[in-house]
Amino acid sequence: MKSFYVAANWKMHKNPEQTRKFFKNFLAQVQTRNHLIFFPPAANFESCASSLLGSSVKWGSQNCYHLAQGAFTGENSLQVVKEMGGTHALIGHSERRQFFGETGELLAKKVKFAKDIGMIPMLCVGESLTERDQGKTNQVLSEQLKQGLSLQTEGSNLMIAYEPVWAIGTGRVASVEQVQEAHAHIHQELNNLGMTRTPVLYGGSVKADNCLQLARLEGVDGFLVGGASLEVESFLPIAQVQF
Ligand code: PGA
Repeated sequence: MKSFYVAANWKMHKNPEQTRKFFKNFLAQVQTRNHLIFFPPAANFESCASSLLGSSVKWGSQNCYHLAQGAFTGENSLQVVKEMGGTHALIGHSERRQFFGETGELLAKKVKFAKDIGMIPMLCVGESLTERDQGKTNQVLSEQLKQGLSLQTEGSNLMIAYEPVWAIGTGRVASVEQVQEAHAHIHQELNNLGMTRTPVLYGGSVKADNCLQLARLEGVDGFLVGGASLEVESFLPIAQVQF
């Protein structure tokens, strides 16, 4: 059986009380061998950390800066996330690239910093609809991987999330063929970089009713789930997917 990872990206949702309530309910029900990781917004790190204390469920930040501390108003220190018990850092989500202008060069520094301090970066890559329509999907994926991993020399403790931008939050999930093809391409690129064992997660409108079919695909090592991760009822079947 392959190791399977299910990550929840809560984006800018929930307050500390809702976070505690979610985990109380979720932990009372969840039974799975899948590896689970939550990315709460920064204001909920404390409630997330205390709720998950003693459980095997991991958590991390949705973004990070590439230095441990300093005069960087508005940023959150990944070093502090680590001290609080966090283990992962989501890096280069398409919303960060699109709305906050994050470049490949900056993302490479973030990936390196996360690894340097012993956190696990999850680098997100994915094409826009225009890029897909223009037949540039593989080219875009290769470029984003090359840039994001440019300061990176090996692939342990590193994860990749393939998230076609047009499938995020739209309810429009990529077809089985599209997912398979993109994952094969990403794995190939990672092999070329000597990062053979890097898990590649799929993200983009993963729901209870499509997760089993997607989980069975070769090259899909897990999911990054947005909307469907916000409620226990909608997330449990995905978190517990078994194939
Ligand atoms: P979605 O979001 O599951 O709501 O499409 C995925 C993501 O942005 O990580």
